[in-house]
Amino acid sequence: MKNILEAPFLREMCEATSNMYRLVWDERNGGNISYMLDEAEVAQYLDLKNVLREIPTGFEAKPLAGRIFLVTGTGKYFKNVQNDPETNLGIIRIKEDGSTAQLLWGYKDGGKFTSELPAHMMSHMARLKQDPQNRVIMHSHPTYTLAMTYVHELSDKAFTHSLWEMCTECIVVFPDGIGVLPWMLCGTNEIGAATAKKMEEFRLVVWSMHGIYGAGKTMDEAFGLIETVERRRRYTCSPRTCRARTRSPMKRWCSLPNTSA
Ligand code: 13P
Ligand code: ZN
Repeated sequence: MKNILEAPFLREMCEATSNMYRLVWDERNGGNISYMLDEAEVAQYLDLKNVLREIPTGFEAKPLAGRIFLVTGTGKYFKNVQNDPETNLGIIRIKEDGSTAQLLWGYKDGGKFTSELPAHMMSHMARLKQDPQNRVIMHSHPTYTLAMTYVHELSDKAFTHSLWEMCTECIVVFPDGIGVLPWMLCGTNEIGAATAKKMEEFRLVVWSMHGIYGAGKTMDEAFGLIETVERRRRYTCSPRTCRARTRSPMKRWCSLPNTSA
C-alpha cells in the first residue's frame, strides 16, 4: 500500500483549503469541499473492504452508491487541514442504500463529514447528469461576493448580468451564468435540494447572506470559478460603487435610528 498522505488527491485538498484560508474566504470552520475519487486510485492507498465506521447521512443519494469522496470534516478549520489531514478530512463511500456513509479513512478524532453534505452530494448528482466528468463541489464564504448579496438584487439574471457586464472574462469563465438562492437555513436537506436544482443549470450558486458554491471537473476549475466571481465582486464593492448600487435591504438598514448613514 502507498502512503495516503502522499496521494495527489490529498495534496490537492490540503493546498485548496490552505489557499482558501489565506484568501480570507473561510474563517474558523467556514467552507467545505467534497472531491469524488477514482476507486482504482484510492485502492492503491486503502483497503476498500475495511470500513471504519458507518454514518447515516439523513438523505438519499442512491445514484452515488459505491462512489468514494474525500470530504472536509464538520467544525474543522481549513487552516488546520494541511498539518493534520487525517483529523480534518475523511474518505467516505456511499453505501448501496444511498443514505449511509462508510468511513474508509480520516475523521480520526471521531468527527464526521461537513454539515453541508446534503448540498454537496445532491449537487454532485445534479452536476454528474450535466457533465459526467464533474468531480468537485466547493463551498466558501468569500468576502466581497458575500457582501454583494446584502446590496444586490437577488436573482440569477441580475447577479449574472452585473458580473458579465463588468468584465468579458466572466462571460468566458462562466457562460452558463450564476444561480442565486435567497437566504435559507444552512446544513439542511432543503437548502441541499435547492442548491442542486440550481446546479442543473449553473456551476456557481450563491447562497445569499452566506456564501457560494462552485462545481468543476477539477479542484482548479471549482476554485477558479469562485475566484473569478470574488475578484470581480471586489471591484464592485468599493464604498462608492456599493452606495450607488444599494438596494432595499441596505436602505432599510441605513434608515434604522441607530445608524448614521
Ligand atoms: P461545516 O463545518 O459543517 O463544514 O460547516 C461550515 C459551513 O460553511 C456551513 O455552511
Ligand atoms: Zn458555509
